[in-house]
Amino acid sequence: MDSDRLARHLAAVVGDAHVLSDPALRASYETDFTGRYTGPARLVVRPADTAQVAETVRLCRDAGVAVVPQGGNTGLVGASVPSPAGGEVLLSLRRLTGIGPIDPGARQVTVGAGLPLAELQRHVRPNGWEFGVDLASRDSATLGGMIATNAGGERVVKYGTTRANVAGVEAVMADGSVLDRLAGLPKDNTGYDLTNLLVGSEGTLAVLTRARLRLVPHLPRRTTALLALDSLEAALAVLAELRLLESLELAEFFTADGLALVMEKSGLPAPFRAPHPVYLLVECAGRRDPAEELAEVLDQADVRDVAVALQAADGRRLAAYRERHTESINAAGIPLKLDVTVPLAELPGFVAELPGLLAGRARPYVFGHLAEGNLHVNLLEVAPADEDAVTEAVLARVAAVGGSISAEHGVGRAKARHLHLTRSAADIAVMRAVKEALDPAGLLSPGTLLPPVARPGARR
Ligand code: MLT
Ligand code: ZN
Repeated sequence: MDSDRLARHLAAVVGDAHVLSDPALRASYETDFTGRYTGPARLVVRPADTAQVAETVRLCRDAGVAVVPQGGNTGLVGASVPSPAGGEVLLSLRRLTGIGPIDPGARQVTVGAGLPLAELQRHVRPNGWEFGVDLASRDSATLGGMIATNAGGERVVKYGTTRANVAGVEAVMADGSVLDRLAGLPKDNTGYDLTNLLVGSEGTLAVLTRARLRLVPHLPRRTTALLALDSLEAALAVLAELRLLESLELAEFFTADGLALVMEKSGLPAPFRAPHPVYLLVECAGRRDPAEELAEVLDQADVRDVAVALQAADGRRLAAYRERHTESINAAGIPLKLDVTVPLAELPGFVAELPGLLAGRARPYVFGHLAEGNLHVNLLEVAPADEDAVTEAVLARVAAVGGSISAEHGVGRAKARHLHLTRSAADIAVMRAVKEALDPAGLLSPGTLLPPVARPGARR
């Protein structure tokens, strides 16, 4: 089927206004947030509900055309945009923004895959609830995208990753059938857990359309502190003490270089009189004021300086030094982003070794989520000819110290060919078998997560 004919069929399902073929209208869907990953879509299709998604997937399958689902396009591993060669239909879920009533007894709510996280937060907070996952990109990141990537973010130390906060999903499978696992039953031992199979599947097994989310109580009293420290070892020592506190919600680190770049690009004033090697942003929250128990830990800790915020606005000001890292790095260039986890005991050594691994081929900015050993290794000024070697050097070292090549951003296109570094041949064979079973024609997000297998007859 040619593109014009497919476009006419799709327009009959979603309406003319929601099939975009004009390159100017497609452009914002075709390049990701980093500017690194880009590819031309055959068409951008914007269905309004599950039935339209199912019909879109069916029409594309019948035409042998691959589909790339996209939420807020805030992904960082190239999974949310077409391949460089292009030709896929980009299926935008952004119109699926429904939100159901909160079920306070079950502590759950059902949302559309295209609902931005910030809108969910605005919906549940006035009712005394919170979604456990929070991210700097909350205004654009959609719940469907967060589930597809099993996003982590800033509060994993208390609430876990997105996986732990999803009770069920609805999804359109590659053949256009609809999987409904939205009942949200806390106990349901009837066979394979299909929700968890789809969480983190990065658009390769199904198109997520709705989700049943777990909610946690909104904790109104919070204290935020920015700690200046000698080293990552000192940060880990403070973290070990902080983890004794039930109220700990956030422990994020960054370094002197990162803070200097954030101040340069954002115009924020310096948080302390002098720069320090390492900074740790911590936040404690509770129904009762956690300020005192936090102060007790910090009084005993080996810190150079502390800025404490007791008011919410001051807390947001301190958090900005951490949250504005991504945009500040983007303002300095297109980064090579390597999101990895290493065991905590290996973290200081890994960061210390990084300059040696890079051997002058990149300017590194390292920050991230300390409690999970989740390092965001952002590399600027990497020559295109060095990108592969630099990536391999860093990821191989991650594997050697027992870490994972993807902590929370997913594998995407960026790391598909490095998957073998931290997943065994047996793991990858099982993943391939699942993919083959659920998407036999290989039409969902080809090239993402698993390296593509050449298939006669499949067109992009
Ligand atoms: C973050 O923690 O800020 C995000 O994962 C984004 C990033 O790594 O740039
Ligand atoms: Zn992160």
